[in-house]
Amino acid sequence: MGRPKITVVGAGNVGGTTAQRLAEKDAYDVVLVDIVEGVPQGKALDISQAGPVCGYSTRVIGTNGYAETAGSSVAVITSGIPRKPGMSRDELLATNAKIVKSVVTELVSRAPEIILILVTNPLDVMVHVARRVSGLAKSRIIGMAGVLDSARMRTFIAAELNVPGTDVQAMVLGGHGDTMVPLPRYTTVKGRPVSELMSKEKLDAIVKRTRDGGAEIVGLLKTGSAFYAPSASAVDMVEAIVKDQKRVLPCAVLCEGEYGLKNVVVGVPVKIGRGGAEQIMEYELTVEERAALDASANAVQELCAAVDRLMT
Ligand code: LAC
Repeated sequence: MGRPKITVVGAGNVGGTTAQRLAEKDAYDVVLVDIVEGVPQGKALDISQAGPVCGYSTRVIGTNGYAETAGSSVAVITSGIPRKPGMSRDELLATNAKIVKSVVTELVSRAPEIILILVTNPLDVMVHVARRVSGLAKSRIIGMAGVLDSARMRTFIAAELNVPGTDVQAMVLGGHGDTMVPLPRYTTVKGRPVSELMSKEKLDAIVKRTRDGGAEIVGLLKTGSAFYAPSASAVDMVEAIVKDQKRVLPCAVLCEGEYGLKNVVVGVPVKIGRGGAEQIMEYELTVEERAALDASANAVQELCAAVDRLMT
């Protein structure tokens, strides 16, 4: 048996960096797909040529078609138009829904057992779109964002407390957007609740900065959005799947009764392993936390209804 094949769709900054990070693992075959002629091929070649220097021998293929994606274990879908400064993730809705629909159809016809990681924004809604068009089990369609949002929160806490980010655990639920739900109660530093380590004002400011984390970077870059941490987060999820790690990661999946949510995609803690989203873990939430998660789920639900109208 060869190496598991991981496809990355979209050879922009997020896709290119995802392919690079996957290549550096030296454990997969990587296929990079984009409609722009030359770009996936050029980036694939460039990543391959770093191999002798960095010590990996990953086969990286760049292509404008889908033939090479046949038999992929996992695909990371990043294609779509990016956010411009001042643009909300939701404005991306119609264009990106169309792109994701066609990408998912192409992938699934060549890899019926594939697990999809959706990164294209608004990604909670894109999970819904992928479900509608693919016929895949809900466990095989997972949105990336909780890992990214939690990573941002961990970074801010680490900087505030002068500890390594790896020692900070955080859990951010809800949609990937203005309604996301950082959970300070489930945020700890080496087991100590973060509320014991900093003032409420500081923690509130970190919660807000986490929620605005994507926009902060868009505002700085001016011509694009974040890609180093988003790609790292997607690769973390790929590895949890392919290595069957059973890690509990916050991810956007379809809830069918969990957290009292019916038939809505939203970020919740999920056990991730070879089967994809194997189990939604139900953390105990306070009344306020649950209300925030409900509000976030409702916001996603409204966009899903809008996209359903656009797609019929
Ligand atoms: C962000 C964009 C990618 O949060 O959604 O950076």
